[in-house]
Amino acid sequence: MRVLVIGSGAREHAMLLALSHDPEVTALACAPGNAGTAALAEAYGVDVTAPASVAALATEWGADLVVVGPEVPLVAGAADAVRAAGIACFGPSEAAARIEGSKAFAKDVMAVAGVPTAAAEIVDNPARLDAALARFGPTWVVKDDGLAAGKGVVVTPDPAAARSHAMTLLDAGHPVLLESFLDGPEASLFCLVDGLTVVPLLPAQDFKRVGDDDTGPNTGGMGAYAPLLWAAPDLVADVVARIVEPVAAELVARGTPFSGLLYAGLALTSDGPQVIEFNCRFGDPETQVVLPLLRTPLARLLHATATGRLSEAPPLDWSDEYAVTVVIAADGYPGRPRTGDVITGAELDGILHAGTRRREDGAVVSSGGRVLSVVGTGPTLEQARAAAYAKVEAVHLAGSHHRTDIALRATRNEVGIPAPH
Ligand code: AMP
Ligand code: GLY
Repeated sequence: MRVLVIGSGAREHAMLLALSHDPEVTALACAPGNAGTAALAEAYGVDVTAPASVAALATEWGADLVVVGPEVPLVAGAADAVRAAGIACFGPSEAAARIEGSKAFAKDVMAVAGVPTAAAEIVDNPARLDAALARFGPTWVVKDDGLAAGKGVVVTPDPAAARSHAMTLLDAGHPVLLESFLDGPEASLFCLVDGLTVVPLLPAQDFKRVGDDDTGPNTGGMGAYAPLLWAAPDLVADVVARIVEPVAAELVARGTPFSGLLYAGLALTSDGPQVIEFNCRFGDPETQVVLPLLRTPLARLLHATATGRLSEAPPLDWSDEYAVTVVIAADGYPGRPRTGDVITGAELDGILHAGTRRREDGAVVSSGGRVLSVVGTGPTLEQARAAAYAKVEAVHLAGSHHRTDIALRATRNEVGIPAPH
């Protein structure tokens, strides 16, 4: 099977690594990729925002399966274009990708499907903002309605900060979503979905804030670990039955079945799991900790999902280890990152590349905000964590920063769901 992966992050690097272990895979390509993916896959340029250019590359390269990593091409219709070219594609149609592309659409699907989520209100007129803000608090959650790479959200106890973020979005012409605040630890559950069939992967936890102890602005994700040793044994079955299956069924009922990976971003509240957001693709950085634990060959599984045969796939086989990833970010991230710095010490196994490129002189240099995603695995969460941080110490990138507390509270049994009130 010839597999073309679209994207350029550590998520795509992790996918390529897993695909490269599947004996059915005969060739791998990645577009646009990075310096790390180029070691595993043929590299091609592509405009990921142009579905026709993704489909043209898939045809020219002779792909049997295209796996689309990021949301931007999916929301633009890349999967439709690839399928129209007669090639299997892992990733939802443009219509189904709206579950991520429009928070208002996702809220409507959840309301009809009876899925628990934060109460929300869309504001598109600045004249209505203050009255709307008064209906929320004491912690305000202010979101961009469209795609914002995880950075469009402000969660704050300060009404002035909430108002100012909302005004910035409105001034830029973006509708604003106000939400009630959900308390409790967050979990990400990835599910393979093919119409009505839902197959969950291991749950993971992502660290969204830039600083230790969850301080500072939101980012695309600064680290993750899996599985969640503190979660209730029936968490996954409960989320599948009460959240993912009803949403999959609602999308089928609307004539826009979901095919690909449906990612439920959850808050585990005292009232049970509630949806923070849905994503229409694998998450980054959680993929970097979920895929190393999956023993089932990945290409076959994604191909079965893409071709409507997920219900025939055998049960998934998981390693009983733990995995932790720590993101090394460039100076300035999540603001404007400094790029072009030389990276050394990143040759160890488990160091996945994101914002990297190979310079003409052969040096690997930074080219984005999240530069590397360093993965450690081990028989306990402590050992996985120690393995990841030992590799982080080996990497040198001028001005870089990373969190020092990824998975730390879980190793100390300090993560728990708030008691019911
Ligand atoms: P989103 O882009 O919707 O995933 O939001 C990014 C992050 O903001 C989430 O991972 C949460 O940490 C936080 N967040 C978003 N919505 C809420 C909410 N309703 N209550 C509490 N935290 C939230
Ligand atoms: N881990 C957050 C995301 O992929 O959106």
